[in-house]
Amino acid sequence: MQTRITKMLGIEHPVVQGGMQWVGLAELASAVSNAGGLGILTGLTQPTPEDLLQEIERCRDMTDKPFAVNLTILPTIKPVPYELYAQAIVDSGIKIVETAGHNPEPYLPMFKAAGITVIHKCTSIRHCLKAERIGCDMVSVDGFECAGHPGEDDITNMILLPLAARKLKIPFLASGGLADGRALAAVLAMGADGINMGTRFMATKEAPIHENVKQAMVEASERDTSLIYRTLKNTARVFKNSVAEQVLEIESRDGATNFEDIAPLVQGTRGREVFNSGDLEHGIWSAGMVIGLIDDIPSCADLIAGIVSEAEEIISQRLTQMLSA
Ligand SMILES: Cc1cc2nc3c(=O)[nH]c(=O)nc-3n(C[C@H](O)[C@H](O)[C@H](O)COP(=O)(O)O)c2cc1C
Repeated sequence: MQTRITKMLGIEHPVVQGGMQWVGLAELASAVSNAGGLGILTGLTQPTPEDLLQEIERCRDMTDKPFAVNLTILPTIKPVPYELYAQAIVDSGIKIVETAGHNPEPYLPMFKAAGITVIHKCTSIRHCLKAERIGCDMVSVDGFECAGHPGEDDITNMILLPLAARKLKIPFLASGGLADGRALAAVLAMGADGINMGTRFMATKEAPIHENVKQAMVEASERDTSLIYRTLKNTARVFKNSVAEQVLEIESRDGATNFEDIAPLVQGTRGREVFNSGDLEHGIWSAGMVIGLIDDIPSCADLIAGIVSEAEEIISQRLTQMLSA
């Protein structure tokens, strides 16, 4: 299955693993790339730009296939030296970057000068058009279903993807709520050139997180996510647990939410501890509605091969038969 995106990224299958804080380490990114998809290391999971350089080297030792680095530009509790992370990416010789969050324009000249292909993740069509205008090579269209930050417009992929197909000239990945070959076939039909998945890749053998987290995702239904930070206009979709419920309770109080009231609950280090210790109630952790579609913990190779073969079968059998009947 070849698309504009497989050709531009030099990968075998149109399947990308999106950047994931605390999860996007070399173990997962290399497994996805070795399976013919595009694995992505999460830049800010590394405490310093020097650590990121080392993680890129570690990933190179684990795969000779292309992989990318994610640079997420969002409000953080501790200020982040974005410029230095961007410089580390350039210095490492990485050729594909996934940017997300705020406008990546300040970093584009250095990425472009280094011959880097830039994928910007967007949750609205106006941001996709802006990304195209400022010179991003492709976008990842992240619908309301997605884990992490879905934006504030609440538009699902059934609307976003056909709109993207109508309005964009650059190719786009569909992202958010995707887990299987049905989804791949559907989004190709809607105009996407591939899929980006986060949550589904957490429940794989190679994801470097505690088994309890993977098992919780297998057991959860599509109703087990919460939208926190709505009152701060920085919405995040996370796994529904007691910490998320406490955050929502604080947000529901009269008057404007004071971030300081929720900061102790939502510290990144507490979320990281969930993934390390398997204590599901230790902090907040991102997960998408697609947990309702996850019922196994395969290797990345089996997952990607299964998705691609299911999509190929749907296209060549089910859909083709409808035309010939
Ligand atoms: C645990 C987790 C952490 C994430 N962290 C980031 C991040 O740091 N930066 C980013 O751009 N996206 C992040 N995402 C979003 C994913 O890259 C991807 O866009 C999203 O998961 C797609 O939706 P899906 O989970 O339904 O597949 C994260 C997702 C998860 C599940």
